[in-house]
Amino acid sequence: MDNKVYFFDTTLRDGEQSPGATMNLQEKLRLAHQLEVLGVDIMEAGFPASSPGDFESVRSIAQQAGDIQVAGLARCVDNDIDRCWEAVKVARRPRIHTFLSTSPLHMKHKLRKEPEVVLQMIEAGVRRCAGYTDNVEFSAEDASRSDKDFLCRVVETAIKAGATTINLPDTVGYAQPDEFAALIKYVIENTPNSDKAIFSVHCHNDLGLAVANTLAALRVGARQAEVTIGGIGERAGNAALEEVVMALRVRHDLYHLEHSIRTEQLYPSCRLLSMTIGQPIANNKAIVGANAFAHESGIHQDGMLKNRETYEIMTPQSVGRTESSLVIGKHSGRNAVRNKFESMGYKLDDEQLQLVFEAVKKLADCKKTLHDDDLMALVQEEVYRLPDRFRLRHVSVQSSDAGGVPPTAAVLMDIDGMERSGAGFGVGPVDAIFNVINDMLGREPELEQYAINAITSGTDALGEVTVRLGEGQYKAVGRGAHPDILVASARAYVNALNNLAKKKKEGERLHCQHG
Ligand code: KIV
Ligand code: ZN
Repeated sequence: MDNKVYFFDTTLRDGEQSPGATMNLQEKLRLAHQLEVLGVDIMEAGFPASSPGDFESVRSIAQQAGDIQVAGLARCVDNDIDRCWEAVKVARRPRIHTFLSTSPLHMKHKLRKEPEVVLQMIEAGVRRCAGYTDNVEFSAEDASRSDKDFLCRVVETAIKAGATTINLPDTVGYAQPDEFAALIKYVIENTPNSDKAIFSVHCHNDLGLAVANTLAALRVGARQAEVTIGGIGERAGNAALEEVVMALRVRHDLYHLEHSIRTEQLYPSCRLLSMTIGQPIANNKAIVGANAFAHESGIHQDGMLKNRETYEIMTPQSVGRTESSLVIGKHSGRNAVRNKFESMGYKLDDEQLQLVFEAVKKLADCKKTLHDDDLMALVQEEVYRLPDRFRLRHVSVQSSDAGGVPPTAAVLMDIDGMERSGAGFGVGPVDAIFNVINDMLGREPELEQYAINAITSGTDALGEVTVRLGEGQYKAVGRGAHPDILVASARAYVNALNNLAKKKKEGERLHCQHG
């Protein structure tokens, strides 16, 4: 089908390069599964040669993957390509994605190689990949600042050597939509063997044009879009998957392009990523922000009441933003809870269902209506957490505005299976809780970020707290959700400490294994 656009998601590779977005293995596996549910065609699982940890996570993702194609990134050098293949070959449909810079600036200053040598490296590298698999992608890094005729030679060489997908990235987010489209069209029309490959684009958002550039390229013949969930990625990020997909859908009259993305999974996917990396979705974010379907002005509200299409170009349902008709509350049975989670894209085994079921009951005791967002937070809390060293049992806090009586916290927790308690003061109640926990653990990590968000509207909403901690070279994010924001804060802090402990352990293990 030559009007099908392949979606290549690089949230787990380029996305993970965005500051503060590192994920642990279990989080990556969970997100990888969600990308399959979403209907992504190819996911880039990581850069295997970049570190032993990356190698292991790419391999685990490849092992778990179903029919989705799993790509690993590799520089155009033997060792990277070999490591990449080692990691992805266990997937049902592996892909090697190799890249080399082709702009005069990069060739001269970064590679310090003459253009002819670059061509030889591309030919040798792609040939090596093709010796392993016929699913080979070649990226001409900094394509948008490359000489267009040299780019045609690059592409011809890569295709001859065995590349089946050719990616032309706007690596530094420099291109403008009309000139980028003209470049893609020129390369397709002026490369003799261009019909033997699928053309792809990978646009960065430095000037806020990543989505516009991607769409412009699709209009002139590119058929693979490299994107990330929520547009996360290096510097200002990549093209946001949900924005490209919905532009194709809402303006099908213009693009006439098809894809396999299940659009009702867009919001759950963005929400899962946001919870995993602890970065809230901006209220005004297109498609998935809290205000994306909110109509504030009287004129707009009046128009909406008369006919939704006056001010709504797509429905919230179409991007998975509505509460489904299954309402979960105090009286819901296990089957209803299981069905509800399945309708939201979560496949839970019996043990996971039991955990979530108990948590649903507990929450329903203090909150009348459970929204989808509450349930997503619960499943994230109860199921997708690795076994923890530290477990919060109880926290009790005394706030105070009286001089001389500082806010006080008392904490009961399990530390490596032993029950411990502690009490202490702080400048505010959150500070008091964190101080007590630090004293109990004999730790003093740096609090790099603390954010609080009401998951839904209403004063009985779950408060969701995100905490980012740093200790030496390690950084970790923790999340906690509870109707009491101080309990949520304590949970988030303990969760971040557990994640930090896991990162350290993992770092030490890899260090021992690989020297
Ligand atoms: O931005 C870029 O050029 C990349 C390539 C490795 C595809 O991320
Ligand atoms: Zn990139």
